[in-house]
Amino acid sequence: MPENEEIIRLEEVFKIFGPQPRGRAFDLARSGMHKNDVQQQSGHVVGLSNVSFSIKKGEIFVVMGLSGSGKSTAIRTVNKLHDVTHGQVWVDGVDVQTLGGKELQAFRREKMGMVFQHFALFPHRNVIDNVAYGLKVQKVPRNEREEAALRALRLVGLEPYARNATSELSGGMQQRVGLARALASDPDILLMDEAFSALDPLIRRQMQDELMAIQAEVHKTILFITHDLNEALRIGDRVCIMKDGVVVQIGTPEQILTEPATGYVAEFVQDVDQGRVIKVEEIMAPPDAIQSSVGFDEVKRAVVASPERLVVDEAGKCCGLVTRSDVERVSTQGTPSLASAMRSDVPTAKASQTLNDIYGEAGKGLPIAVVDSDGRLIGRVDPTSVLEELGRVEALTDAFEREVYM
Ligand SMILES: Nc1ncnc2c1ncn2[C@@H]1O[C@H](COP(=O)(O)OP(=O)(O)O)[C@@H](O)[C@H]1O
Ligand SMILES: [Mg+2]
Repeated sequence: MPENEEIIRLEEVFKIFGPQPRGRAFDLARSGMHKNDVQQQSGHVVGLSNVSFSIKKGEIFVVMGLSGSGKSTAIRTVNKLHDVTHGQVWVDGVDVQTLGGKELQAFRREKMGMVFQHFALFPHRNVIDNVAYGLKVQKVPRNEREEAALRALRLVGLEPYARNATSELSGGMQQRVGLARALASDPDILLMDEAFSALDPLIRRQMQDELMAIQAEVHKTILFITHDLNEALRIGDRVCIMKDGVVVQIGTPEQILTEPATGYVAEFVQDVDQGRVIKVEEIMAPPDAIQSSVGFDEVKRAVVASPERLVVDEAGKCCGLVTRSDVERVSTQGTPSLASAMRSDVPTAKASQTLNDIYGEAGKGLPIAVVDSDGRLIGRVDPTSVLEELGRVEALTDAFEREVYM
């Protein structure tokens, strides 16, 4: 696939909602008037006002903005769920506004897969039928579509659940089924509208990581919508920030952070700066602990796979931490047992604490055990992830201060 080749382009797109979208409201919007004023003067809602952007093949392009900023409207012009009031939308060289009926259906089917915030799965059908559904509609023979569905399920790590009912799956897993369904027909483009927004922070970060891993394998073009700047900066190759129907800035995450185009972007950056109130739960990973009852051989294997392991007792409470070097030490010198290798002074944190709260502990260089109010282990935070997160926040703060004081 040639690099830098454009696949989606919006050109001076306006979308006005109301009985006479091409009337006065459009003229007012075209003159640059703010959507609130257009609404006051014409009773029409401006969805998009002079929106232009170009998405390259193979990139993750994120549209970020607050609720009502026009993100969904923008994505819906790409698959022509919305007609536009003015302007043009190009997808792979095709002016989508010229498409209709069967041609439009075929175009959507072949070119794009869609994933939404709400999974829209059939709860009583099993996973594989949900994933293969689009192919079934296209009358793809059964074994062919099941093969394609299994391939997609493998990509999202759900192959073992192919025959489960979707209603048996957690939210994160259901969203992965949604993603597999979009991938099943192997489209060039994925349209993802707030696909992870309903997931809790831990699952959400896992899904972001997974999406990036899948993307590294399949090289789709992904148009991803979110209201979360953290998410946008994390997964986007480029980020387009929208406000009140208008594009405010398009740039790489670094550009957005270090050269916010307007006070508005800087304000967002400041919101991330309230990343000083980023919670432990947002960066914690699964605990990946070992049981205190396991034999020493198993402990040795465990620390090979990952050099620091938290240890839990039968009640699921965190009772210690064992590191690879401790295991090596007792293997050669002391009594080789988990008890002799384990240290019990494990730094702990609550999911609701902030990164600042645990900054000191993170400085010790050991994983921090995240425990619930009963002391049960629910996650772990590695010191590097604290520093990474805070480092990013520093960059954001710097950018913000430059904007304000220069
Ligand atoms: N079908 C519609 N009819 C009227 N107004 C709409 C319609 N869809 C969206 N809007 C308005 O267009 C603006 C942009 O909406 P939307 O694209 O859904 O925002 P976002 O996805 O960023 O939250 C909002 O002011 C919204 O109220
Ligand atoms: Mg929306």
